[in-house]
Amino acid sequence: MTSPLDARLATHLAEFRKDGVYKVLNHLDSPQAARVTMEGRGEIIILSSNNYLGLSNDPTVVKAGISGLEHYGAGTASVRFICGTYTIHRQLEAACARLVGTEAALSFVSCWNANEAVPATLLTDRDVVLSDQLNHASIIDAIRLAKSITKCTTGVFQHSDLTDLDRKLSDHREAEVKLVITDGIFSMEGSLANLPGLLDTCRRHGATLMVDDSHATGVLGATGRGTAEHFDLVGEIDIITSTLGKALGGAAGGFVAGSSNLCDYLTQRARPQLFSNALPPTVAASAHAAITTLEAHPERVTTLREQSTYFRNQLTAMGFSPLPGETPIIPVILGETAAAIRMSELLLDEGVFVTGFGYPVVPQGTARVRCQISAAHTRQDLDEALAAFGRAGRSLGLI
Ligand SMILES: Cc1ncc(COP(=O)(O)O)c(C=O)c1O
Repeated sequence: MTSPLDARLATHLAEFRKDGVYKVLNHLDSPQAARVTMEGRGEIIILSSNNYLGLSNDPTVVKAGISGLEHYGAGTASVRFICGTYTIHRQLEAACARLVGTEAALSFVSCWNANEAVPATLLTDRDVVLSDQLNHASIIDAIRLAKSITKCTTGVFQHSDLTDLDRKLSDHREAEVKLVITDGIFSMEGSLANLPGLLDTCRRHGATLMVDDSHATGVLGATGRGTAEHFDLVGEIDIITSTLGKALGGAAGGFVAGSSNLCDYLTQRARPQLFSNALPPTVAASAHAAITTLEAHPERVTTLREQSTYFRNQLTAMGFSPLPGETPIIPVILGETAAAIRMSELLLDEGVFVTGFGYPVVPQGTARVRCQISAAHTRQDLDEALAAFGRAGRSLGLI
């Protein structure tokens, strides 16, 4: 007999299909690289991965993961404070802190977990947390959790609107701790937070600034140290969270970086630390190798920037309207959701994997295909992808 829950799920799944929002997973059988092998399609160019530096499949990173597995086995088999912590975790955390320019860092099994740990662990009912309107889902959920656990006050400021933030901080001038959270790069737009403005506003109000740099670590700044380096503010940001699941090898994992007191306190009290196993040593070792490779080869960041600028300029020259910006996230706005989905299907037929996003992920009328460039892409990869964009765009009457 079908349970009430199963019946409900089946109804919703049928609705998703009818509304055209059902997500079909494409099956890959090769590592993330400029080109991947997709079931039923063979080799295709991928423009929808966060493998910004091309490190996922880098031999040094892969070998380090294997050595980590051989040296430490599969994992800690418990949480760190109970059964001990590995040298590789300490090495990774020191490397994360060095990279983003903070005193200390603490690793988590994902940046989702890292974000979830911060407000719920640090805030109280005497505090307020204010979040940019376009912040990542993990920050939104982290704040919901913090509100329910700590009874802190919460608020949202208009996207990148310093006047609105200033007003809301003034409204909460009595709060003991004021925590302001922003993404470094906003992933659907590829746009940057106004870090100098945010920092100035926070300082005037005695607020703490937390930046989720998941899309910017390894990407922004001359040497890939993130949004802070881009704005010449390394060492100035109170709390940085980031992922190891994008530019830094792409496996999984995240970290919180900040003062030694912050990381020590989270070690003592953050529930995802206290009640969940550590990052697998395989992943810690490959992420550590990704960071040292980045430090030794900052030219990867330069390549990424040059390839991104090239792709953006060529798309514009062809008559598309990519959102302006200076990041490897290049969204091409197509209007209605159906247009974005159709474009992404046509591109896949042409051998190029780019995901289309529509409402409610992005506002009505701004559906888009979002291209993400990697330092692993060659000019030939990009030129082939651009030619496919041209054919698909012409057949849809977009250019
Ligand atoms: C801005 C941002 N924060 C956090 C996350 C979550 O990262 P993780 O995959 O490490 O949980 C993502 C991933 O999509 C992200 O884009």
